[in-house]
Amino acid sequence: MADMRETVLQEFGKVFGSTEGARVYFAPGRVNMIGEHTDYNGGHVFPCALTIGTYGVARIRKDNRLRFYSMNFEKLGIVESSLEDLKPYPEADWTNYPKGVMWAFGERGMKMTCGMELLLFGTIPNGSGLSSSASVEVLTGAILRDCFGFDVTNQDLALIGQFSENRFNGVNCGIMDQFAIAMGREGNAIFLDTADLSYEYAPIRLEDAKIVIACSNKKRGLGDSKYNERRSECETALAELQKVVDIRSLGELDEEAFERYQSAIQDPVRRKRARHAVYENQRTMKAVQALKENDVEQFGRLMNASHVSLRDDYEVTGIELDTLVEEAWKQPGVIGSRMTGAGFGGCTVSIVKTEHIDAFIRNVGEAYLAKIGYAADFYVVTIGGGPCILQETI
Ligand code: GLA
Repeated sequence: MADMRETVLQEFGKVFGSTEGARVYFAPGRVNMIGEHTDYNGGHVFPCALTIGTYGVARIRKDNRLRFYSMNFEKLGIVESSLEDLKPYPEADWTNYPKGVMWAFGERGMKMTCGMELLLFGTIPNGSGLSSSASVEVLTGAILRDCFGFDVTNQDLALIGQFSENRFNGVNCGIMDQFAIAMGREGNAIFLDTADLSYEYAPIRLEDAKIVIACSNKKRGLGDSKYNERRSECETALAELQKVVDIRSLGELDEEAFERYQSAIQDPVRRKRARHAVYENQRTMKAVQALKENDVEQFGRLMNASHVSLRDDYEVTGIELDTLVEEAWKQPGVIGSRMTGAGFGGCTVSIVKTEHIDAFIRNVGEAYLAKIGYAADFYVVTIGGGPCILQETI
């Protein structure tokens, strides 16, 4: 992190003339271990923050201008805006994320009193499903809190980030990503009940195994619209169920109750979507219980079952993610493997015995390349903490 701090500061100096008055920040990315597409259904999720994430260097200005620069999108150069023009534009590209957060603070009565310069550098592969956008949102929130003294907690940063993503950037996401990032704790996953935001940290002690992420390198493309489609399928299914049972969300049903009432859902496809939401929520609770009992093998089996349900009932996997997971299941030393995040491309998460990791990466990588025609990338990741300030004014 120290090296990276120097790198981003130096670059800030090059891009914006000097480093005087600049401060350096970091916010993590996240991986979800289990509990997928449950967060907008009042269910549980089990994500953790990573040590890869987004670095930011910020400096306030005397006027109202906003000047953004990303080391990941150098070709775009400095993207300009101003406090009077906090609106999303397609050509504003990635800057719609920090702008959205600035707008969202304003909507809550926290107005920035001046503009700023902001340089970002992300170590999360873009569009990989490890939440590079939520990382930018929480990072921006942490920067605004620090630079303008806004009185907000880390949980508020998560809610503001989600609000900006929903209302400014038009993706109807749940709270999981921003919460996992804002509330991250080293070595722990967060068992979050999205119905009331109650949560509990659970240490991930894998001993002789590690978390391996495989990035499919399939860009999501239509993913965001499909995401909104799944969400509305679940909403319609809930409305149909509410005619026969008194519930506020799909997360309130267990398997048995679902089987009893499911015929109220008219369309068989919608019934499958709801079944995933209900069963996945129950699986997540069981998985956390297994982990508490130190039964990593059972946790892994539930991860595998989660993938099958996302593939067959929720239909958000696709050949790329299925290939990565199905090849992973064939490898020795694999405790569990599943897609993670929204799906439709992005990443898988696997728990792999340390001594088998090299062979795992080689074998899954070769099989993927042979079947899909381009390579996947692999990362052995570490669970990190939440957003932080890396350097005060120099
Ligand atoms: C995306 C969303 C999250 C969550 C996951 C699926 O990452 O941003 O809110 O719905 O998909 O579990």
